[in-house]
Amino acid sequence: MTYTLTTPLYYVNDRAHLGSTYTTLACDSIARFRRLQGERVTFITGCDEHGLKIQRSAEAAGLTPQAHCDAISGEYRDLWRRWGISNDRFIRTTDPRHRAIVEQFFARVEASGDVIEGRQQGWYCVACEEFKEESPSATEPHCSIHLRPLEWRDELNLFFRLSRYQQQIEKLVASEGFIAPRSRRREVENFVAGGLRDFSISRLDLPWGIPVPGYDGHTFYVWFDALLGYLSALLEPDDPADLELLAQRGWPAQLHVIGKDILRFHAVYWPAMLLSAGLPLPEKVFGHGFLTREGQKMGKSLGNVLDPDVLLERCGADAVRWYLLRDIPFGDDGDFQQQRFSDLVNNDLANTIGNLLNRTSSMARRWFDGAVPPAGDASAADHPLALRCTACAEAVDAALEALDFRSAAVAILELAEAANGFLNDRAPWKAIKSEEGRGGVAADLYAVLETSRWVAVLLAPLLPDLSGRMLGQLAQPELVGDSGWTAARHWGKLACGDPLPEPTPVLHRLELDSPL
Ligand code: MSP
Repeated sequence: MTYTLTTPLYYVNDRAHLGSTYTTLACDSIARFRRLQGERVTFITGCDEHGLKIQRSAEAAGLTPQAHCDAISGEYRDLWRRWGISNDRFIRTTDPRHRAIVEQFFARVEASGDVIEGRQQGWYCVACEEFKEESPSATEPHCSIHLRPLEWRDELNLFFRLSRYQQQIEKLVASEGFIAPRSRRREVENFVAGGLRDFSISRLDLPWGIPVPGYDGHTFYVWFDALLGYLSALLEPDDPADLELLAQRGWPAQLHVIGKDILRFHAVYWPAMLLSAGLPLPEKVFGHGFLTREGQKMGKSLGNVLDPDVLLERCGADAVRWYLLRDIPFGDDGDFQQQRFSDLVNNDLANTIGNLLNRTSSMARRWFDGAVPPAGDASAADHPLALRCTACAEAVDAALEALDFRSAAVAILELAEAANGFLNDRAPWKAIKSEEGRGGVAADLYAVLETSRWVAVLLAPLLPDLSGRMLGQLAQPELVGDSGWTAARHWGKLACGDPLPEPTPVLHRLELDSPL
């Protein structure tokens, strides 16, 4: 079985920002965790390229919509490569096979009797690409997310008969585990309890979209088309565009990770569309929180947007991943604070984790011919640090299974702290001074080096780069997927006498003397 997980498909109206980076990093960690456990994973990301918002941003850039989409989606693809994101697929909704999938899906929905014509009146937010609930008589309604004026619409469209799915969706959203975290469930339940209304799935006179077969002048509403990107993404490079194939390609998805603002689309509209088309439903939709910066909403007009490129260049992927995954409970809103960011990275990664490895391997090299010292008593599986390592591994597994990155990160940090504490208590720098102390020193250094190896191994899904560098310092191979984790999680894998490379710092301290 394949574990299929997705990020949202990002709009190409603008370049990537910290919000999209956050979702993508989190998904990357989940994908790595699953692969390391031996699961087959299909990790999907990509771009959502149709609709009025994109059409307008292309016009503003003086480009054809296609040229604009090519440029920005190319930037996304490159960006994720630079961040080391391990996505298996990158879907663009302007892909011709996607268009064919949308047509097939629509034919099924139509055959179910779920497409009707109707009149759409209401206030529309182009940035959300969504009708809002404001009353028709409102004078100057604004979008509460984008703080921009809404536009009045009155047109004849095709509607999807969402109202027919009231009972099924009620049951689905109330079911345990479908909407996560649990705290977000209530909001969706309330929305559904208010009565589901049919929603329009086509637009008239919007050229930048997929034409609706059989309805001249109509193109698909961008959300109808975009959600289907999760299906088209599953096609293998040589597959024909055929909906029937998807069951063998990893549908249904196990997990959609999204921001809380687009939960309704994923937890209500999307399952109803799938029910109508006779396709199985995704297992879980996780709505994470929103990031602010120093307490303020990020926005172009405020000039405080954090650019993922700048972050990567000045701080490196490990630092940013650590801060976002370790500091913000996944699901809650979070605030990016530069001082806290550099403090955490310097304390946790440089001082605690990096330094543990550095000082231990320096001592081992100095006193034991540049090699892993003999383990002696430390080879016992009930060595206090061995017990800590296995307990930590169990805690990390449980936390990552529950998408609780923070608990996983904290458990690993505490393991490193325990090893540092052990080293301080045993003070090998004193014991080494006497010949009879030498055996004990060897065993203690072995135990701490082995614990550092476990720290590196357990860090692999969260901080793959740092993990790789730490393993390199221990002359251990980098971890790869396909159950690499099971093999690596045995106490005593370091072999006595194996040469230890010259220690180099695995992580540089962050010295941020100006705002990012
Ligand atoms: N194109 C749609 C998704 C279609 S999925 C079939 C879309 N794209 S988006 O580019 O606008 O948003 C992508 C994601 O970024 C959303 O999950 C959104 O919640 C997230 N974020 C946008 N701003 C954010 C923050 N400030 N903080 C955290 N995430 C935020 O929506």
